[in-house]
Amino acid sequence: MGMSSWASCAVLLYLVLLLTPSCPILFLVTALPGNYLAADASTSWTNSLSAPDSVKFDDGSFARIILLSNFSDDSVTAGCGCGFICNQTCNSHLFAIFSLSYDVYYDPDSVNISKSEGPKVVWSANPENPVSINATLQLTSEEGLALKDANGTTVWSTNIGSKSVAGLNFTDVCNLQLLDDKNATVWQSFDHPTDTLVVGQKLVAGQQLTSQGGLFSFSVTRQGFFAYINSNPPQRYLTYISENTSDIKFFKDNFTISSSGPIIAWLLLSTYFPNRYMRLGADNGHLEVYNMYWRVADNFFISRFIDSCGFPTVCGSYGICRNGQCICPEPINATSYFQLIKERQPDRGCSLITPLSCQASKNHILLELKKITYFPFTQDPPSINPDHQHINLDSCKQACLKNCSCKAAFYNSSKSLGNCYLLSQIFSLMAIDQDNTDFKVYIKVQNPIQQQTNHRKKKQVIMGSSLRSLLVIFLLIGIFALLFWKKENADEAEEYYLDHVPGMPTRYSYDDLQAITENFNKELGGGGFGTVFEGTLPNGTKVTVKRLDGFSQIKKSFLAEVETIGSIHHINLVRLIGFCAEKYHRLLVYEYMSNGSLDRWVFHKNPEMLLDWKLRKKIIIEIARGLSYLHEECRQKIVHLNIKPHNILLDENFNAKVSDFGLSKLVDHGQSQVVTNMRWTPGYMAPEWLSSMITEKVDVYSFGVVLLEILCGRRNLDHSQPEEAMHLLDLFKKNIVEDRLLDLVDKCSEDMQLHGGEVVNTMRVAAWCLQNDFTRRPSMSMVVKILEGAVNVESVLDYFFSNPSLPNMRAGVENQEVHIVAASSLFPSILSGPR
Ligand SMILES: *[C@@H]1O[C@H](CO)[C@@H](O)[C@H](O)[C@H]1NC(C)=O
Ligand SMILES: *[C@@H]1O[C@H](CO)[C@@H](O)[C@H](O)[C@H]1NC(C)=O
Ligand SMILES: *[C@@H]1O[C@H](CO)[C@@H](O)[C@H](O)[C@H]1NC(C)=O
Ligand SMILES: *[C@@H]1O[C@H](CO)[C@@H](O)[C@H](O)[C@H]1NC(C)=O
Ligand SMILES: *[C@@H]1O[C@H](CO)[C@@H](O)[C@H](O)[C@H]1NC(C)=O
Ligand SMILES: *[C@@H]1O[C@H](CO)[C@@H](O)[C@H](O)[C@H]1NC(C)=O
Ligand SMILES: *[C@@H]1O[C@H](CO)[C@@H](O)[C@H](O)[C@H]1NC(C)=O
Ligand SMILES: *[C@@H]1O[C@H](CO)[C@@H](O)[C@H](O)[C@H]1NC(C)=O
Ligand SMILES: *[C@@H]1O[C@H](CO)[C@@H](O)[C@H](O)[C@H]1NC(C)=O
Ligand SMILES: *[C@@H]1O[C@H](CO)[C@@H](O)[C@H](O)[C@H]1NC(C)=O
Ligand SMILES: *[C@@H]1O[C@H](CO)[C@@H](O)[C@H](O)[C@H]1NC(C)=O
Ligand SMILES: *[C@@H]1O[C@H](CO)[C@@H](O)[C@H](O)[C@H]1NC(C)=O
Repeated sequence: MGMSSWASCAVLLYLVLLLTPSCPILFLVTALPGNYLAADASTSWTNSLSAPDSVKFDDGSFARIILLSNFSDDSVTAGCGCGFICNQTCNSHLFAIFSLSYDVYYDPDSVNISKSEGPKVVWSANPENPVSINATLQLTSEEGLALKDANGTTVWSTNIGSKSVAGLNFTDVCNLQLLDDKNATVWQSFDHPTDTLVVGQKLVAGQQLTSQGGLFSFSVTRQGFFAYINSNPPQRYLTYISENTSDIKFFKDNFTISSSGPIIAWLLLSTYFPNRYMRLGADNGHLEVYNMYWRVADNFFISRFIDSCGFPTVCGSYGICRNGQCICPEPINATSYFQLIKERQPDRGCSLITPLSCQASKNHILLELKKITYFPFTQDPPSINPDHQHINLDSCKQACLKNCSCKAAFYNSSKSLGNCYLLSQIFSLMAIDQDNTDFKVYIKVQNPIQQQTNHRKKKQVIMGSSLRSLLVIFLLIGIFALLFWKKENADEAEEYYLDHVPGMPTRYSYDDLQAITENFNKELGGGGFGTVFEGTLPNGTKVTVKRLDGFSQIKKSFLAEVETIGSIHHINLVRLIGFCAEKYHRLLVYEYMSNGSLDRWVFHKNPEMLLDWKLRKKIIIEIARGLSYLHEECRQKIVHLNIKPHNILLDENFNAKVSDFGLSKLVDHGQSQVVTNMRWTPGYMAPEWLSSMITEKVDVYSFGVVLLEILCGRRNLDHSQPEEAMHLLDLFKKNIVEDRLLDLVDKCSEDMQLHGGEVVNTMRVAAWCLQNDFTRRPSMSMVVKILEGAVNVESVLDYFFSNPSLPNMRAGVENQEVHIVAASSLFPSILSGPR
């Protein structure tokens, strides 16, 4: 297998990428021959940006691809490359294995856009020692692979001992293998994981993942697994000791553990949108599971072991995490000792207003923090060892005050003597509800009162010095201030600007909203994008306030998106009145809808809450009008993506309004669990979600499901029904064929039965909306026309029955359900109904 065939394939790849950036990479990859290279004639590759097999990606990164492979899975258009890779600036390069994927993603502005995503490194030989241009990779039978920098220094090599390498194989699961003459594995990249596991790769006892930059590690031993931050000494934030492997329920979902000591293996999840990668986060220490498009599908720690406040860096140093939000330790005796490192970004952490100084250690004091704990102490036993045992509280405090490198002291005892822990590095703290009198937390601070006298002394010194040095100092300060000011104020300036754009919804401060909602007292519901509260504006108007959860996922362009949503006004759309974007808080204020969401009225069997046919018809037309406006009439087309009864709200006169439109734009597509959650609401999803071609017709499909639910007075998926009647769509299909649609009309309502004929006619509109082939579904404006009687339903009927095999909707719906059960910890919130 010569170099030249690889090179020519890559030339082709490069040309195609250049000419048609939307072309799936894989058409080419599948055309490549096998991935075996013989080592006998030693081969080498030089890192170069101008080599014919160099590829520039849409995200600006650049790779010289030496080997290519792909996941052998029909539904997937993704693969791996192996070679030299660099980021935009390309002044440092890695020899790495990187994922390549071809993605069609939803873009509200142009409905469907295809794009090849940038490569993501899943393994690297030299993560900490990047090489330069002209570095070489050599394959020899004696040494295996060796990476030499341009000046000849060996940066990395495979350690194969006395074994001999006959060839190299890059497998289709992204494993780089060195094989001997019997094709047995001598070395493989799977045995040397960096920060990522790919499908099929196992992390076995003795191995660990280390996050990019080296801050966090996740290691597996024969006893269990552990996650820690690499401070000195390391502080552990997850301890899992496995005593009996068969009682570990979390692993049944495709994380397996072997009985001969823990082996964590990550396996394939589902046929559609399969999850492919697991990565230890560089900044947050989370272990996240990603699908092939690198969207977060699961968070291994959060959904199973650790509260979101239990991570060392969640609120930066000294920051206190309370319910996922960050604050600095409170002032004591009217003196503030801490300030936010970056205003508006509390999750960056806090710093001491007066830094600790070992020279002025006489002025060190220990502040006691109440109702606080620290992550190593949330584990039993604590995951750090005491520095002193059997000592009293006072000795513990003195030990910390005497040692300048001690930054914090923790003391735990129910008796007069106890354990004393001294830390030289402090990460995020955690708020707890109950004060534990046996456990004390002390943070060392520099006493500012003494410091002030120091300042005065310093000032005198400066006064005494010459005018010239003073001038130089001022000049320097000026230059620095200017530089920093420019940098720091870029985002703030944008916020300020948007703050003052006319036509924007009202901007509230967080304090305002606390007052409006009486401190978020009356919760109306949760799920989906966040939690919803009732509130009252100062003028007496009732409002609902939606607090968007997961502040790390909210887009930077929040304000711009809010502006778009706020500019959309239609009688059948819930109006956005205001918002709050302060620090990490993101809230939206909507008009209040006193009759709540549609599901309360349609699935309720309470006779007093039954809606008659006239009212149901009105609601159906109003939903259709709202959607029609979003799709066809407003300035910027908006696809809702999540139409379901929870998102249809009713005001006091039972006027229906669509809510939550445009919210998908508020969250980052790159790492959004929220989008994932929203997109994957089972039962309402159009079949084309599986093929990733998303148009506004997905809303038409969901509307069809909702329409049918309103007419039949039951949920699409109703587990209280006998097996054969559980899926409304199946039943619908069966009854169409048998011409017994009347049987489906809501039996709880006499009025509905009375108008059976009309209801059945409307069901046929639903059938049209539910066409498997989205091009055959009507537009929402057409639906409005039919419902209003402007277009005859009979013509629809013909159309509908000309399609003899009604789509197998059930299969589509069920697959999503299976997927969510297997892949997402968010399922319970979906079950309980977001909003
Ligand atoms: C890539 O996947 C396709 C489809 O499964 C398969 O036919 C082809 O052999 C694979 N190519 C390589 C290089 O593994
Ligand atoms: C490029 O930079 C991003 C973040 O800046 C990082 O996540 C990625 O791994 C880098 N890629 C390479 C090839 O260094
Ligand atoms: C979306 O994709 C379809 C099918 O490939 C294509 O016909 C249509 O023009 C695309 N729409 C846009 C706005 O690109
Ligand atoms: C790499 O090598 C080529 C050929 O030897 C040389 O022309 C070029 O200057 C080198 N580049 C760097 C960055 O050293
Ligand atoms: C080669 O270059 C690297 C940095 O690029 C440097 O650390 C190393 O010392 C150099 N080795 C020699 C032998 O010059
Ligand atoms: C090389 O990898 C391919 C793809 O995974 C595999 O089918 C083949 O058996 C491997 N060859 C050898 C010699 O192991
Ligand atoms: C090892 O695999 C390569 C590629 O598949 C093949 O050409 C070679 O004959 C195999 N060697 C043995 C000893 O099986
Ligand atoms: C492990 O737990 C299972 C079920 O809880 C039990 O049947 C089994 O006996 C236990 N094994 C050991 C070694 O304790
Ligand atoms: C993934 O987990 C599901 C549910 O536990 C299981 O049915 C399936 O077989 C697992 N997939 C693999 C590839 O192990
Ligand atoms: C705060 O004031 C109380 C009472 O005056 C005093 O006992 C305590 O030491 C003070 N704490 C600090 C940190 O200054
Ligand atoms: C304090 O010590 C007791 C045992 O001495 C232990 O059970 C408890 O978990 C410890 N509490 C903390 C917060 O470390
Ligand atoms: C000071 O504290 C640090 C961190 O707790 C510890 O490693 C060191 O041994 C202590 N030094 C003395 C002299 O006690």
